Amino acid sequence: MCGIVGYCGPRAAAPILVEGLKRLEYRGYDSAGISVFHDDALNVVKRAGKINDLRAAVPDQFPGSVGIGHTRWATHGEVNDANAHPHLDDTGRIAIVHNGIIENFQTLKDRLESEGHQFASDTDSEVVAHLVSSLYDGDLEQAVKRAITLVKGTYGIVAMHLDEPDRLVGARNGSPLVLGIGENEMFLASDVTAIIAHTKQVIYVEDGEVVSINSSSYSTTDLRDNPIEKHVDVIGWELEEIEKAGYSHYMEKEIFEQPESITRATQGRLDFENATGHLGGLNMTNRELLEVERVKVIAAGTSYHAGMVAAYVLEHLARIPASAELASEVRYRNPIVERNSLYFAVSQSGETADTLYAMRELQRKGARVLGICNVVGSTIPRESDGGVYIHSGPEIAVASTKAFTSQMTAFYAFALVVARMRNLSYSDGLRFLQALDSVPEKIGRILDDITPIIALAKKYARAENFLFLGRGINYPVALEGALKLKEISYIHAEGFSAAEIKHGPIALINDQTPSFFLVPDDSLRDKVVTSMKEVKARGGPVIALAVEGDVEVGRIADDVVFVPSIDELFYPFLMVVPTQIFAYYCALERGCNVDQPRNLAKSVTVE
Ligand code: G6P
Repeated sequence: MCGIVGYCGPRAAAPILVEGLKRLEYRGYDSAGISVFHDDALNVVKRAGKINDLRAAVPDQFPGSVGIGHTRWATHGEVNDANAHPHLDDTGRIAIVHNGIIENFQTLKDRLESEGHQFASDTDSEVVAHLVSSLYDGDLEQAVKRAITLVKGTYGIVAMHLDEPDRLVGARNGSPLVLGIGENEMFLASDVTAIIAHTKQVIYVEDGEVVSINSSSYSTTDLRDNPIEKHVDVIGWELEEIEKAGYSHYMEKEIFEQPESITRATQGRLDFENATGHLGGLNMTNRELLEVERVKVIAAGTSYHAGMVAAYVLEHLARIPASAELASEVRYRNPIVERNSLYFAVSQSGETADTLYAMRELQRKGARVLGICNVVGSTIPRESDGGVYIHSGPEIAVASTKAFTSQMTAFYAFALVVARMRNLSYSDGLRFLQALDSVPEKIGRILDDITPIIALAKKYARAENFLFLGRGINYPVALEGALKLKEISYIHAEGFSAAEIKHGPIALINDQTPSFFLVPDDSLRDKVVTSMKEVKARGGPVIALAVEGDVEVGRIADDVVFVPSIDELFYPFLMVVPTQIFAYYCALERGCNVDQPRNLAKSVTVE
């Protein structure tokens, strides 16, 4: 959601801000702006549209070496220049950028208007500028501190004031903020991708902290001005990882990275000697793991689908009752936390508000919540009771791909650990490990020749409705396949259990509505084939993802793509990859913006 960047240093700020915003564009991309101090003025440029529109609008000569920038994902107020950030107070001396939602903005705005403040936008964020202005008496940090005690909601804020032209003040509550330490220059950003080109030394700002920077120093304090000692982290990845590396889109690159990203997720975690997994960060003793009586996964979007697969594997392999639930539903239904339940919060970004708030609610009730996350240092892993980093490397495309397969990988390793403590024998454990270890190579084989999938996309990309159908452990993959297609190609797609179509969705079948069947050679294969025949009998086009050698499926389906054979529990890995590729090429065929689909954002930090 919304990206923030701030710069204080000797160099020209505008290009650094615009480049930083470009790298943050995946967080929100409907409008953007910058403001930079120069000649006793705050020079502001704001534009509805993409960062390239902003770039075109920023004059070549845009002097000033301290400034802030923002890329927006609209919540309050439509997408237009006025609603883009930075927002100024009426004196034009204060500018702020904000990520999050100010819940009591209307009350604050009414009060400020009655005091004579005039608002220029429809956003909730603008109240922060006026509020800081109304509380300013010569010290921006103090004014920001006073302002945020009056604000209810979530924020990552960076503010600047004309009277303090070598200073930026940032504050955080619920929306990420990171401080970058360079050589005689400092950065603030909502995400390290914005600043990694300049520095790898960062400090993660926590909720309730206020950070004040100038070009050569920084301070972090709490709201009562107590100094806070912060640890300087070093970013563990390279700038190249957020480049497209010759691919047309990040999504394409990330799909193709999966053999490698899954391998990274298993590194040091497969213990062949003991036929088990090794997950160092769980912070749980073997005895505590043995006492787990049920597992619950909370997550949103693609991560939720990974959680559904995980629940299936945990029940099947470890015989631990397990389920996945949408995090957004958990918080508000007063969840019952049972003794000996173990929770997992799964999130690529580690910042998804729905997941974070559900996690906090569960922890408040005494639950132990482990995180399965990708972004190192993000909020969920920092607040969780332990967990697993999936180490996928930065995932930039809004539609998640490599994180999904790596989240599953982490769960498979966890399932193996707890299964081996219970009823899984050494030899069965070893077989499971070998299958898990073979996944990257088998995905590699699918990626080696994607021409049949491209042909499918060319043939079906004009369909307006699609069904994705799978059963058992591949049912969540059907949901994920449908989600991917709708996210990036805007084709209406729904995922169902193949068995369930006869209870309703089959009414949708006609010759314009293709069905994409997932047909692994598992114990449910024959039942899926029966569903395929039912669709076929009603004139619906049938696409099948089947296993090499399955001639019968090839005969029934109008089109078939084959995947390698693997142990039954591992088909989600091999089934999901072709659905990702299919969605990607359908989106290309339809001329859609693959990496930045309309209305979506990568990291949704509002509820
Ligand atoms: C957003 C993204 C989805 C993602 C979901 C959960 O809606 O557009 O692609 O699956 O958030 O994100 P998380 O970072 O928690 O995995």
